[in-house]
Amino acid sequence: MSKIGLIEDAAVLCGGGKIIAVGVEREILRHPWLKKNERKLQEIDCGGGVVLPGLIDCHTHPVFATPRLVDFEKRIDGATYEEILAAGGGIRSSLAGVRQASRRELSDKILVALQAMLVHGTSTVEAKSGYGLTTEDEIKSLEAIGDAAKRWPGTVVPTLLAAHVVPPEYAAQPEEYVAKVCDEIIPLAARKKLAAYVDVFCERDAFTLEQSQQILAAARRYGLDTRAHVCQFTASNLSGLLAQQPASLDHMDCVGDEDIAGLAQSETVAVLLPGANYFLGHKQYPGARRLIDSGVAVALATDYNPGTSPTPSMPFVISAACTHMKMGPAEAIAAATINAACALRLQLSKGSLEPGKDADMAIFHVQDHREIAYWFAWNRCVQMIVSGQPV
Ligand code: NIG
Ligand code: FE
Repeated sequence: MSKIGLIEDAAVLCGGGKIIAVGVEREILRHPWLKKNERKLQEIDCGGGVVLPGLIDCHTHPVFATPRLVDFEKRIDGATYEEILAAGGGIRSSLAGVRQASRRELSDKILVALQAMLVHGTSTVEAKSGYGLTTEDEIKSLEAIGDAAKRWPGTVVPTLLAAHVVPPEYAAQPEEYVAKVCDEIIPLAARKKLAAYVDVFCERDAFTLEQSQQILAAARRYGLDTRAHVCQFTASNLSGLLAQQPASLDHMDCVGDEDIAGLAQSETVAVLLPGANYFLGHKQYPGARRLIDSGVAVALATDYNPGTSPTPSMPFVISAACTHMKMGPAEAIAAATINAACALRLQLSKGSLEPGKDADMAIFHVQDHREIAYWFAWNRCVQMIVSGQPV
């Protein structure tokens, strides 16, 4: 991860939305494709900046109506996220807004978030439902994601997170809600082709390990891929979830030693979300060094959501990963590009600047790639190229 293949005095040749060649400018200018296509050529001067593959935010929750300022102030006054959640607040206080909102209103809000992400260098986003928690409102949330995606130049990967928490109507019968997710919501989302992935929040006060396995197994029966929120606040044994071959396991703040070897051998990517640790005011951050040094594939994402991480900025996440998780700037960039592409199983088309891949690029006004991590909370992204087009 620390070898990111930097090329100095470089150029990227794009055509038909794909990368045709990447290399030193001198060589690229002699590329045979150039001669044939000279007339329709458009040149973009990157001003001596740094060009990265468009950043990939592989974990976001953009379908919500309002910020959660009450929780924010409660935490400032000393309450923890888990206390607020156990008392019926947290995720549950975002339900009313989403249930009342129209599909169009939600899609407008998602689009605002996607635009903010794009401005910060992100061209591919995984987007979860999870604040509706009825069949109708989860489907509406996924449709809103699809609508926003059509109005945005980048790529959006939709995920069904109907198993975010047990909604208040099912508080006394959580198993009935799990059955509804497995037998009604997942099949419907799959039939309507609204989701690529199914996610579950496996945590105390959310879903147990057994329920989570049940939900991921149902997803696979309906042809959907899986991912899970796990080990954010409490440790869970990961072998049962790994058996479902999830594309990623996310948060991973408290992974037990016994799971490290299994994770390293699996194709599953550990997606670390330091924005949540930052915003919840945690002193501890995910143990990136231990995972990376053990051979686990690590990616980074914003976890953009109203409760724990209201930031659209992947460069901020890269910076936090360096400062608080001791990832090197190159490792953090790899985690936000090629490894994040793997977490979405898009590594053949995205995540690196290689011939044949999608021409998605972020141009940063810095002289050295390490500055992207260094200038924290300062957006140095000055131009995006998506599918070969400046946007
Ligand atoms: O990834 N942990 C579960 N889901 C979100 C938080 C959702 C919320 O609080 O609204 C997360 O941190
Ligand atoms: Fe999340």
